[in-house]
Amino acid sequence: SWTMKGFIQEAEDAIRRQVGEHGRVICGLSGGVDSSVAALLLHRALGARLQCIFVDNGLLRQGEREQVEALFVDRFHVPLKTVDARARFLSELAGVTDPEKKRKIIGREFITVFEAAARDVQGAEFLAQGTLYPDVIESVSYKGPSVTIKSHHNVGGLPEKMNLKLVEPLRELFKDEVRALGRELGLPDEMVSRQPFPGPGLAIRVLGEITEARLELVRRADAIVQQEIRDAGLYKELWQAFAVLLPVQSVGVMGDERTYESTCVLRAVTSVDGMTADWARLPYDVLERISTRITNEVRGINRVVYDVSSKPPATIEWE
Ligand code: XMP
Repeated sequence: SWTMKGFIQEAEDAIRRQVGEHGRVICGLSGGVDSSVAALLLHRALGARLQCIFVDNGLLRQGEREQVEALFVDRFHVPLKTVDARARFLSELAGVTDPEKKRKIIGREFITVFEAAARDVQGAEFLAQGTLYPDVIESVSYKGPSVTIKSHHNVGGLPEKMNLKLVEPLRELFKDEVRALGRELGLPDEMVSRQPFPGPGLAIRVLGEITEARLELVRRADAIVQQEIRDAGLYKELWQAFAVLLPVQSVGVMGDERTYESTCVLRAVTSVDGMTADWARLPYDVLERISTRITNEVRGINRVVYDVSSKPPATIEWE
């Protein structure tokens, strides 16, 4: 009969058969569930013959890079190279406001940065990807024909370009099976039950121009949203909950001073697969805590609005 332990054993054997006795494998970590589970499985099969690469593109949420490093390096002792590409992404995105252009630039820069990092790994012949079964049967495209779900954390075009062979240990699994596998491999529940986070990251949640200062506003607002949603016990009920920074300023008051500062949107939805979604009926007291904390703690945001649009016709993200 099928058991998770049996699956892990077979998957390890299959990896070792494909990669051989000496082969080395590169695996891109995104901070998400799929690449994390794939990396842990590969690490069990290959040990130090696995080299993980994590690109810090400066578009991550608060503490994300530190969490990935704590989990993989400190806890699981997985060989991990973090590439600090923050300055590069920021300068390539400077002045860009069109959502599709943002995605294209981010996809392109990711490939460039990842490829350079991968070249430094001596003797690597294989590239691992956390492709799931649904990805195998359909390639979901996001807001434009040119960009697919895989174009950011995974590396479209790279394997051929670099002459790497693909290793896809999750390609027969559905998402809930990947989660169960992650638990069995010892990933903390916090990681296994993570809400989706888009490859282009905070760039598509900063409407208008992306600057370090505006990224920092949305990052701090988002950290408050994450914390309050978790504290209210709502994290697992929601498909996603996050903050979006609008290119809109409005008048406010602080003490005796008039302010003229940014507006932040709170977006929270329920969904089964992300294809359709309903705005979440969050309790008023949760809305109030989030709003009060953001306007008190994030200087530069003086107004929080709640998005009550469902998908369709709105999308979950604002770009
Ligand atoms: P939308 O906004 O199209 O999003 O309703 C549906 C789901 O997809 C995520 N999303 C993306 N994920 N790259 C990704 O990896 C992207 O460019 C992208 N755009 C949207 C979104 O967060 C939601 O879960």
